[in-house]
Amino acid sequence: MRDLTITIDGPAGSGKSSVARRVASILGYLYLDSGAMYRALALKALNQSVPLDDEGRLERLARDTHIQLKPPTPHQERAGAKNRVFLDGIEVTDAIRTADVAQASSRLATIAVVRQVLVAEQQCAGAGGGVVMEGRDIGTVVFPDAELKIFLDASPEVRAERRWKEHQEKGDAVTLSEVLEEVRQRDQRDRERKVSPLVRAPDAILVDNSAMDIEETARLILMLVRERQSEAAAVVAK
Ligand code: CDP
Ligand code: CDP
Repeated sequence: MRDLTITIDGPAGSGKSSVARRVASILGYLYLDSGAMYRALALKALNQSVPLDDEGRLERLARDTHIQLKPPTPHQERAGAKNRVFLDGIEVTDAIRTADVAQASSRLATIAVVRQVLVAEQQCAGAGGGVVMEGRDIGTVVFPDAELKIFLDASPEVRAERRWKEHQEKGDAVTLSEVLEEVRQRDQRDRERKVSPLVRAPDAILVDNSAMDIEETARLILMLVRERQSEAAAVVAK
């Protein structure tokens, strides 16, 4: 069977990381969370007090930063992590999952030169196929020729509640309405920015998983994978 490039884009809390990781693990593909790269760079900018609108400094920061994504340890996985993230060799898996870093990442993600650096790294990491990459612009910009593109969505209320439950489990003191507001603000910025906004690629399949769990969503995507693989096999056989 041919190894496909699968892209999953969608707003915050739509289930991209959980579903992408599950699909990748069943297929034996590489799973790549592009959002973790924006978050890691945002954490570095916050730590170094680099203003989030200083394009020149942020571009240099992006070029001088080494971000690595690795599979989580069993302990981290039980705690809900979908991958391990290293920033210049130091683990930041938990540190990038705060509301401050989320907001900062979506501000930094509006800067074209920063995106260029991260997109080039994502293209390198996913070259060769056999990969499930998730984010906001993976099907539109990073891998526009991917064989299977999914646009994953769910209602804002469902997405905020999912995120709020994660905060509850970690013991973060945050209310559901605060999380809903954070998610709404970030979605709006991601959808309205000039460079690589969050949009559904014309050839992406819309999957609304408001009423589906991770397993059901992954199974639906796996059915689409099999369909693409048999279409590709039929073309080769002709
Ligand atoms: O990556 P993204 O922000 O799109 O979402 P996620 O981090 O994969 O999922 C956010 C939370 O929603 C996680 O705690 C998932 O376990 C949960 N989730 C769910 O309950 N049902 C789904 N169909 C998808 C995700
Ligand atoms: O997990 P969640 O869906 O909340 O966010 P994320 O995937 O970790 O991404 C954090 C932020 O990075 C998003 O709000 C976007 O602003 C930005 N991002 C992006 O612009 N392009 C991507 N391919 C991935 C993330």
